[in-house]
Amino acid sequence: MSKTHQKVVLVGDGAVGSSYAFSMVQQGLAQEFAIIDLNKKRTEGDALDLEDATAFTAPKLVYGADYDTCKDADLVVITAGAPQKPGETRLDLVDKNLKIIKSVVEPVVKAGFQGIFLVAANPVDILTYAVQKFSGFPRNKVVGSGTSLDSARLRVALSKKFNVSPLDVNANMMAEHGDTEFAAFSSATIGGLPLYDLAEAKGISKEELYQLEDDVRNKAYTIINSKGATFYGVATALMRISRAILRDENAVLPVGAPMSGEYGLKDIYIGTPAVVNANGIAEVLEVPLDEREAKAMADSAKTLEEIAKNGMAKLQG
Ligand SMILES: NC(=O)c1ccc[n+]([C@@H]2O[C@H](COP(=O)([O-])OP(=O)(O)OC[C@H]3O[C@@H](n4cnc5c(N)ncnc54)[C@H](O)[C@@H]3O)[C@@H](O)[C@H]2O)c1
Repeated sequence: MSKTHQKVVLVGDGAVGSSYAFSMVQQGLAQEFAIIDLNKKRTEGDALDLEDATAFTAPKLVYGADYDTCKDADLVVITAGAPQKPGETRLDLVDKNLKIIKSVVEPVVKAGFQGIFLVAANPVDILTYAVQKFSGFPRNKVVGSGTSLDSARLRVALSKKFNVSPLDVNANMMAEHGDTEFAAFSSATIGGLPLYDLAEAKGISKEELYQLEDDVRNKAYTIINSKGATFYGVATALMRISRAILRDENAVLPVGAPMSGEYGLKDIYIGTPAVVNANGIAEVLEVPLDEREAKAMADSAKTLEEIAKNGMAKLQG
């Protein structure tokens, strides 16, 4: 896919989608960017506003579109769906957003799309799984944003605790993008030093690290309670994953990836580091987990499996 003209289609021009579009313009990624939403007027306004920014960054054709535009796209990014309201969990969104995602995937596939799907609408692990089922695409060509945002939040929190740049913190949140996720502290490093060793040397207790993990898990609620929605962080995470796909980077990123036996799991999408390139998910990297983390992974997967099974059954029935 590393061709000179690349085309991205965004479906869902709300807070997350429009911030993602802005981030893609800032980075000068893709030469063509089409925007689809139920609210067509908004896509037209956003396209006109975004094209003004291209005069300062890189040339790009930005326009509001219909589904037939997906035919020759390299990447379709789905941010269409209801967001969490204060007090709502991501899993509470499953029924309404499964319906929306089905109504999005069908016309994309019908248009003849053969690129990569990137899914961000919530509950993202279940919706990514559903996109793969509804599209019938090879599993590697459907990527979820998974715990990419959560891992960024963890790196930021650790960077403050250890007084180093978040760019130099190598740490992942794993499993569900939601309340059952966990911090994979046992494999985390800063400058090649194991995080637990560095914490001990600096007098930072495990309890403090677990508190930090909990704050990361709840950060979306903190943001939603203060400004109604979260969008800049996830939009930038989506840009980062898009760049890995469009530039065929083989980047190791925490994403929502399909399991084929890793962590003892199958037929599920879940947050784990994976190699991302022009083929989507090139390889899942199975991170060694300690006892606490292995239990959290198994419990999280069980929750996701149950909700996915019930949600898909309701949709069919
Ligand atoms: N993966 C993550 O890390 C992450 C982070 C934040 C938000 N989200 C999720 O992203 C989704 C979008 O959040 P938001 O804040 O942008 O919401 P929003 O309400 O601002 O935007 C949603 C957009 O989707 C559009 N839409 C709804 N149904 C559609 C359909 N059938 N076809 C086309 N467009 C449709 C709406 O018109 C709206 O413009 C939510 O599900 C939210 O929970 C994910």
